[in-house]
Amino acid sequence: MRPSATIVEVGPRDGLQNEKQIVSTADKLELIRLLRVAGFTRLEVTSFVSPRWVPQMADHEAVLNGTAPAPGLIRSVLVPNERGALSALAIGVEELAVFTSASESFAQKNINCSIAESLERFKPVAALAAEHGVRLRGYVSCSFECPYEGQIAPEAALAVAQALADLGCAEISLADTIGRAQSDRVDTLMRMAVGALPAEQLACHFHDTHGHALDNVDAALGWNIRIFDSAIGGLGGCPFAPGAAGNLSTVSLVAHLERAGYSMGLDMGAIEAAQRFSLQVRAPQS
Ligand code: HMG
Ligand code: MG
Repeated sequence: MRPSATIVEVGPRDGLQNEKQIVSTADKLELIRLLRVAGFTRLEVTSFVSPRWVPQMADHEAVLNGTAPAPGLIRSVLVPNERGALSALAIGVEELAVFTSASESFAQKNINCSIAESLERFKPVAALAAEHGVRLRGYVSCSFECPYEGQIAPEAALAVAQALADLGCAEISLADTIGRAQSDRVDTLMRMAVGALPAEQLACHFHDTHGHALDNVDAALGWNIRIFDSAIGGLGGCPFAPGAAGNLSTVSLVAHLERAGYSMGLDMGAIEAAQRFSLQVRAPQS
């Protein structure tokens, strides 16, 4: 039997949060529908963040409301604080994803607080997740490199990952927010991470700004990491991380993992249809 890998499709959130032209709610919902047809069961559909900070995600309630629950489907939303968690839980969601950083400067730019303050803010989110029986995911942005501080020590990323695990995160995604990591640095951090946490609790989130993402996936596979985030169409990036171009493209990731012998239960033809749609809504014909 082929080994399996899991893809967390973050396109509707990480893909669309950085688009200059705001994508309509109807187009977001159609994209989510197409991704579900393709077989994705882990979908990050939106973020419950401040609409003043990220106007592209201001329709988060409508997007989550429009994404019906289904057996086996994990609808995830990014939340920075208790308020976001409460709003998402009031609608219904299967996973809350909290996000902080291994870099103090990036934490300040992205969520307007220190790393320690962010972890405090996540405590009530973790309590709500436990109370409602929903999964808690945690992101460590700038696990390798920060647009403001340069290289980040692997010990710093690992400390934040450990803190998220202590908080109750079932899964921790180590992110190369600006796509600058190369495979040797991924190798080092993942070696340290699997020494501290179970490999099944870890995911990698690569941006492909400099074309290193697939090499980085291979480095992580070497440490038994089997959960990878990607965005349909390679869209996206973080508005508060200058230089963070597209995420690792889902089509490239799925093709790469299939070539390496992994099964993901996805339909490549349907993924390509979702990709065509994502590129169309990104640059609508006028
Ligand atoms: P703040 O200004 O420090 O906090 O923002 P605040 O409590 O004063 O709130 C500011 C405004 O946001 C207020 O409204 C609040 O009501 C509102 P205003 O008075 O301006 O009208 N507000 C909210 N609205 C909706 N939902 C909420 C919420 N909370 C407060 N949950 C805050 C702090 C965290 C809210 C802000 O900095 C923020 O929203 N930041 C968003 C950052 C973001 O979304 N970044 C992109 C996603 S992270 C990413 O892309 C990285 C990742 O992909 C991994 C990787 O690649 O590295 C995950
Ligand atoms: Mg990202």
